[in-house]
Amino acid sequence: MFACPVCGLSLMPRAGSSDSAAWAGARPGALVCAAGHSFDVAKQGYVSLVTGDSHIVGDTSDMVQARASFLATGVYEPIVSALVEMLASFDGRLPVGEERAMSESVGIRPLTFADLGGGTGYYSASILDALPAWDGVLLDVSKHAAKLAARAHRRLKVATADLRTTIPLITASMDAALVVFAPRNAAEIRRILAPGGVCVVVTPTERHLQELRATQHMLDIDPDKEDRLTRQFADFNLMEQRQIEWQTDLTQQQVQWVVGMGPSAFHTESTDRASHIQDPVNTTVSVTVRAFQPK
Ligand SMILES: C[S@@+](CC[C@H](N)C(=O)[O-])C[C@H]1O[C@@H](n2cnc3c(N)ncnc32)[C@H](O)[C@@H]1O
Ligand SMILES: [Zn+2]
Repeated sequence: MFACPVCGLSLMPRAGSSDSAAWAGARPGALVCAAGHSFDVAKQGYVSLVTGDSHIVGDTSDMVQARASFLATGVYEPIVSALVEMLASFDGRLPVGEERAMSESVGIRPLTFADLGGGTGYYSASILDALPAWDGVLLDVSKHAAKLAARAHRRLKVATADLRTTIPLITASMDAALVVFAPRNAAEIRRILAPGGVCVVVTPTERHLQELRATQHMLDIDPDKEDRLTRQFADFNLMEQRQIEWQTDLTQQQVQWVVGMGPSAFHTESTDRASHIQDPVNTTVSVTVRAFQPK
């Protein structure tokens, strides 16, 4: 389902390298398009679809490690549950059987989601565990994130790509797109979604981690975010919206990770500060989950 980020044609394993060997990272292979553009599959098991004109590197190794450690403590599990419920409620409405086979680009492949800016693969892997009918593709510009994501789940394929201009996936090939705390490219999301497909977006509300923002030099939530989201998704219908908010006690270590994994104002100073706090820190987690479908 990967498309060439240069010309948009579909990518195939290079003749002579077997698909499964390339993906399992057993030996480095490459994916090529009919025009001859070639993209390496790293030995860690992800394909690099970042083109030469992108200078974005995404999350650093330290940020990715902090994120993986923090998410592994399970604090954000209610967000996973909301995503699983939303995808499960939508898959019953997606075309199946003959109707599905008639849509050429979808064919008879399994239900597939694209986790855009998917980071370490925490959400993808949790969803794939909960929903055996689904397969997943994760794209993130950070190679540090991609390395972890490539090991996150057997049914998850991973690529690095800068998603600002193009999303290197075949047109109408995805049943769902997920954007969890990550940059959004609504025009491209619309293009990659199959008929009946849904885009699920998770954004922080103004109250998200407010106790930490007050003391830890973390950047404020952009107050324009809501308006921007509505403008970006003007060509979509909002199908469902839920706010999830709860209080949680974070240990000093968790505070350090949560500060380290995000864009904080003064990075070193912030992680220093976090090491001086007394735990537990009672903190608000507050996000909005929205499901959109192209108009
Ligand atoms: C706040 S993290 C969220 C990661 C993941 N969705 C999660 O919630 O654990 C934002 C992610 O977007 C990625 N990212 C930033 N700019 C990007 C771009 N232009 N293209 C693709 N990914 C990007 C970063 O590397 C990072 O992994
Ligand atoms: Zn090409």
